[in-house]
Amino acid sequence: MPRLLSASDPEAISEAVSALGRGAPVVLPTETVYGLAADAANGEAVAKVYAVKGRPAFNPLIAHVSGPGMAADHADLSPLAERLMAEFWPGPLSLVLPRRKESTIAALVTAGLDTVALRMPAHPVPQKVITALGRPLAAPSANRTETISPTTAAHVVRSLGEDAPLIIDAGPCDVGLESTIVAVEGDRLVLLRPGTVTADRLSALAPLGFAQEDGGVRAPGMTKRHYAPSKALRLDAKTAKPGEFLIGFGDVEGDETLSETGDLAEAAARLFALLHVADRSDSTAIAVASVPGEGLGAAINDRLRRAASA
Ligand code: TXA
Ligand code: MG
Repeated sequence: MPRLLSASDPEAISEAVSALGRGAPVVLPTETVYGLAADAANGEAVAKVYAVKGRPAFNPLIAHVSGPGMAADHADLSPLAERLMAEFWPGPLSLVLPRRKESTIAALVTAGLDTVALRMPAHPVPQKVITALGRPLAAPSANRTETISPTTAAHVVRSLGEDAPLIIDAGPCDVGLESTIVAVEGDRLVLLRPGTVTADRLSALAPLGFAQEDGGVRAPGMTKRHYAPSKALRLDAKTAKPGEFLIGFGDVEGDETLSETGDLAEAAARLFALLHVADRSDSTAIAVASVPGEGLGAAINDRLRRAASA
């Protein structure tokens, strides 16, 4: 069994920091999803993360920083990048920025690109760990590549099994969806992955240019099939067909519901957990009710489309 330490255990932070300092990965909670973290300056430690996830090495990782000061050590910050950090950090927004030559982040983290993705998590556990370590943490979601993202420690154990390193357990993640990723190209923004920091809020800060890109090129991790359960997934369902587990929303009741009241934040926080429940149930297939596309719904629908893609 993998070793779990509660975040409230007085030794949790120091144990995580000492393991990371030795080059071992550690699973840490964040406000979005659980992350499989490694010292971003240690290429061998980062290689272990790729190995545990079964992740193609050309797919770069997000480096998690303690704040704008640490970000400035690793990336060139344009005035627009500074404004985004002031407005949205700490929180679920990752910025893809030009990488500084002086940056000590291992090339394996950026997969050889001349840009680096940086995020300052709002969760107190990674904040304390990064500050104590004094270096960024590279951390993808703590699940095997292409499977449903983990929003509890139990999801991590189920996905990584015996390969899971030390896990710091802080209960279910508040946001439940991975961070928004936006590339900052001078005074322009390109949205690479939708999330809870919505396109509307970002474009308001970039009057000179805002574009959305359906992944693949600039965010190589945005492959079409992603977040996938092991069973077939049908979208926009109103009722369950025989053998299906129906995940409802609003008026569509289902076996479980994303949100009875049609609340998108509640739906985002429950999405991955309910996909895990449906995947483990006796049903032979999964159906999901339609979720409106505005605001946070864009990020929820993005994950659902990828999960349903065969
Ligand atoms: O909420 C999150 O972002 C979580 C938690 C743990 O922080 N992390 C996460 O990481 O979702 P991951 O590895 O699952 O997703 C990272 C995404 C990938 O799609 C990758 O292609 C993209 O970030 N990415 C990383 N560096 C990039 C870069 N330099 N340019 C473009 N895309 C990049
Ligand atoms: Mg992931």
